[in-house]
Amino acid sequence: MSQLFPHLFEPITIGSTTIRNRIVSSGHDTVLDDHGHIGDDLVAYHEARAQGGAGLIVLQVSGVHETARYTSHVLMATDESSVPGYRAVAEAVHRHGATIVAQLFHPGREVMDGERGMAPRAKAPSDEPQERFKVVPEALTTAEVRDIIAGYGHAAKRIVESGIDGVEIVASHGYLPIQFFNPAVNTRTDEYGGCPENRRRFLAEVAQTVRAAVGPDVVVGVRVSGEEKTEDGLVAAEILDLIDHLDSLTADDTDGVADVADAANGVDCLDYFSITAGDSSTLQGAVHIVPSMQIDPGYATNLSEQVKKITDKTVMVAGRINQPHEAETAIAEGRTDMAIMTRAMICDPEIANKSAADNVDEIRACIGCNQACIGHFQQGVPISCIQYPESGRELTFLPRPTVRTRRKVLVIGGGPAGLKAAAVAAEQGDDVVLCEKEPHLGGAVQLAQELPYRSEFGGAATNLTAEAARAGVDIRTSAPATQNLITEVAPDHVIIATGAEQRMPALEIADDAFVIGARDYLRESPDLPVGRVLVTDWKGDWIGLGIALRLAEAGRQVTLATAANFAGAAIQQYTRTLLVSQALRTGRVQFVNDARLVGVDTDTGYLQSTLCEVVHEVDGVAATIVSAAPRSVPVDLDVGAASVTVIGDALAPRTVEEAVYEGLTAATDLAERRESVRA
Ligand SMILES: Cc1cc2nc3c(=O)[nH]c(=O)nc-3n(C[C@H](O)[C@H](O)[C@H](O)COP(=O)(O)O)c2cc1C
Ligand code: SF4
Repeated sequence: MSQLFPHLFEPITIGSTTIRNRIVSSGHDTVLDDHGHIGDDLVAYHEARAQGGAGLIVLQVSGVHETARYTSHVLMATDESSVPGYRAVAEAVHRHGATIVAQLFHPGREVMDGERGMAPRAKAPSDEPQERFKVVPEALTTAEVRDIIAGYGHAAKRIVESGIDGVEIVASHGYLPIQFFNPAVNTRTDEYGGCPENRRRFLAEVAQTVRAAVGPDVVVGVRVSGEEKTEDGLVAAEILDLIDHLDSLTADDTDGVADVADAANGVDCLDYFSITAGDSSTLQGAVHIVPSMQIDPGYATNLSEQVKKITDKTVMVAGRINQPHEAETAIAEGRTDMAIMTRAMICDPEIANKSAADNVDEIRACIGCNQACIGHFQQGVPISCIQYPESGRELTFLPRPTVRTRRKVLVIGGGPAGLKAAAVAAEQGDDVVLCEKEPHLGGAVQLAQELPYRSEFGGAATNLTAEAARAGVDIRTSAPATQNLITEVAPDHVIIATGAEQRMPALEIADDAFVIGARDYLRESPDLPVGRVLVTDWKGDWIGLGIALRLAEAGRQVTLATAANFAGAAIQQYTRTLLVSQALRTGRVQFVNDARLVGVDTDTGYLQSTLCEVVHEVDGVAATIVSAAPRSVPVDLDVGAASVTVIGDALAPRTVEEAVYEGLTAATDLAERRESVRA
């Protein structure tokens, strides 16, 4: 039992189900579906979190009606073909002592994908347009509304009969139930629109129908955004009023259409409230669905705290609770009963077990980059984590193979690729030396953390370094790879992970112009001449936007010229939204899109359109900072008979995600090419 986190590891009873601790993995769409059903990949994914000690696992959204397909890969609970999947995941999670609940979902107008690339069609309370996905929905008829409510009941029954412990109605993030409640979205004139009671009716009838369908003993919860934090969004007072009504709702209330099963008669419809923030219909609101590193850890606990004041039911809350001490404090201070730690467990599925054993130093903390979790979802590809690429790939990489014959592995380069390769190779049983020419480990991560609101990114280097050290890697810093080192180590295998370096494109630059590469600027922080700074950015990533923001916040006028379609185009959209918003708030950043730098005069920058021959001049430029495509750093050494793998930016400059992944694959291949056993 944990000495450090007594509240977090105290069991809790919801309805008639007792959960072993207060750590929750909330519903998150993994894109690990097997043609809309739960297959082996998704089962293995959740089994890893259950095995890692999670208390409650909430399965990603399941559509309750044919009109609920918000993406082409959504799980559907609309017929019996879904049953084997629910059964398999329930059995896998139960095997490790965790509890599992499934989300019941209808997106209303929040539909992202149309059929075969066509524009999405959506059904919603009214035809109010959706700004983010540019959807104009069709208004539901009253008969369709009732059909969808019945769909919640059918899906709930099917899911719990498959062995899942409960269901959670998704009324958060601007999805269908809360669209009915929002007067800016619901302009109906039937009994589901108009006065607050009518606007509450849809969710109330869903809750009654679900309770009737599952009976009195099964856990039923609801997920709600404590505040939508967007234009036309619901504010905390409105949400609290809704929760207050739902809190006392029983399955025999007469204003509904619910077909109340005798057993559920008089039973409260809801057992818990899962509190989150944000709304999907605008980027302003959507950033709170999966808040990135610019937002403080645990910031939504002020919303759950208000909910706790009006209900005795279980309350749980999400929002960057990345570490057990944050969860412990929030529970101890009465701001929540349970702590949702979703990305914390995407990044480190073992976080609960490590916390229970008070091994906090071993936790691989999520850094809120959003790149491979929600970023992958938005690209329609399976979930992972930039720090832990095993996530979402459990069946490929876990358990780790163990080598029977120990070999010598030399890793050249202590950035993310080299650190991951070294850590995994050593865990597999090889004898690993890692040499890094700089005094510090981390490679490009060291520079990335210099950018504003990105200091947490350094955590990736800290975590990987700790993993390599724990695995027993002989880590040598200020140690360039030399022929002498090769002779000394006498490696059987060499992994080259030397990263990339700055490249300056061919430009016409006047002798007296101040021009500096972005990496040099971040490394050296030189004083820039007084006046406008032109920042040019080839990729649309953090470097250009981050430098522009840093300068603007320091009071400089900045022109940010990107060769991408828009600044930050390569950054996950919630992270980008917050960065661009910050830049806009300074009022000092001028954005130029689709433009590459071709020359710099004494005080003029020349930008050529990437779309046509037009050249744009930026006048009054005192300094130019150039973020251009980097170049791989080669290694020129005789490694004798050793085999060689080149990974990460040394192979081709990309991001930390590819670097860490290639570190994993290089080390795994090493073991699998030899006689090895799966641990
Ligand atoms: C990849 C991904 C997919 C998500 N999909 C869902 C979803 O299906 N249903 C839902 O209610 N929330 C979804 N969320 C939001 C999470 O449940 C959670 O509220 C969010 O990640 C913030 O919690 P955290 O800071 O602990 O990660 C998703 C989050 C991620 C990262
Ligand atoms: S990809 Fe980034 S935000 Fe997502 S779980 Fe991993 S560290 Fe956290």
